[in-house]
Amino acid sequence: MHLNLLVLPGDGIGTEVTRQAVAVLRHVAAKWNHSLRITEGLLGGVAIHKTGTPLPPETERLAADADATLMGAVGLPEFDNVAPEKRPEKGLLGIRKLLGVYANLRPVRAYASQLDSSPLKNHLVEGTDMIIVRELTGGIYYGTPRGITENGAEVRAVNTMTYTRSEIERVARMAFSLAGSRRKKVTSVDKSNVLENSQLWRRVVTEVAREFPDIELDHILVDNCAMQLILNPRRFDVVLTENMFGDILSDEGAVLAGSIGMLPSASIGPKRPSGAWVGLYEPVHGSAPDIAGQNKANPLGAIGSVGAMLEYSFGLKKEASAVDAAIEAVLRSGRVTADLRPPGAPATTEEVGEAICAAV
Ligand code: IPM
Ligand code: MG
Repeated sequence: MHLNLLVLPGDGIGTEVTRQAVAVLRHVAAKWNHSLRITEGLLGGVAIHKTGTPLPPETERLAADADATLMGAVGLPEFDNVAPEKRPEKGLLGIRKLLGVYANLRPVRAYASQLDSSPLKNHLVEGTDMIIVRELTGGIYYGTPRGITENGAEVRAVNTMTYTRSEIERVARMAFSLAGSRRKKVTSVDKSNVLENSQLWRRVVTEVAREFPDIELDHILVDNCAMQLILNPRRFDVVLTENMFGDILSDEGAVLAGSIGMLPSASIGPKRPSGAWVGLYEPVHGSAPDIAGQNKANPLGAIGSVGAMLEYSFGLKKEASAVDAAIEAVLRSGRVTADLRPPGAPATTEEVGEAICAAV
């Protein structure tokens, strides 16, 4: 198969983890005789520095031409006090919207060999295996009106949380379909005791559930969900939620997995005529400026995202399973980065990447 890929390393540790993820991809391609075309583009802070904008038109063009896009991380501390419109993050939000990748799949697993990495008690996290399905192109991240207005001495800030029936339907269908090949349970998360938006969310999800009679559906309020994730994570199979709740809950999920560096994600959108998903693949973590350039970052979230790309964008299930199996094997071997608190000396980003290639 021919794999035509855009890589957007972005900022901070994004460049380091994507380098390892691409090395793994090259390794997989060589082993299974796939040809690779990899183009690199600018996104985030690095794009602002080089072109003045976080999502340059050239990157938009490259993303439209690629079969799949792999992103590292965006964000630089020097933009901390800048308006949202001019920040590196705006580039990521822009490319998600451009590609129309409305469903962000974030698997959260507590690997048996990694239970001690989590600050939570082993008996709580053991056996955790869920996937968060986060709506990604709507909600308060994109709603208008938005902005800050000053009126005399007073200042007012507005953001708008908005969803339409069709936006909720399509991401709900994605969650129910995924549940079909898992433990057949969807938990929908909302704040319907306060927000009209969540009332619509709950109503539409309940309606979509009727199309999937073999899947069990329950609803939970987001505050309670935050608590249950820590108290009883095994109760969750597929967690379906809107954009901002999903952003927050997936960082909490990272504590179950031992480190945010562990979490991969697949952002998928409409299906192409070939049947493959349009996909943007990104680790859940950020650019971590505090450890950038030190060869310390955990590349497994980025490498797992390559596995997801092989599966969803290219339908290469065998190759995707090989990447997942390699991650498990390397975790068992103890060759992991400092964030996972290994008992011995931690491995570097590069060493973990090399170990994954060897295991593949
Ligand atoms: C994530 C990140 C992004 C988000 C930021 C970098 C814009 O936190 O992917 O979880 O909020 O979606
Ligand atoms: Mg986040």
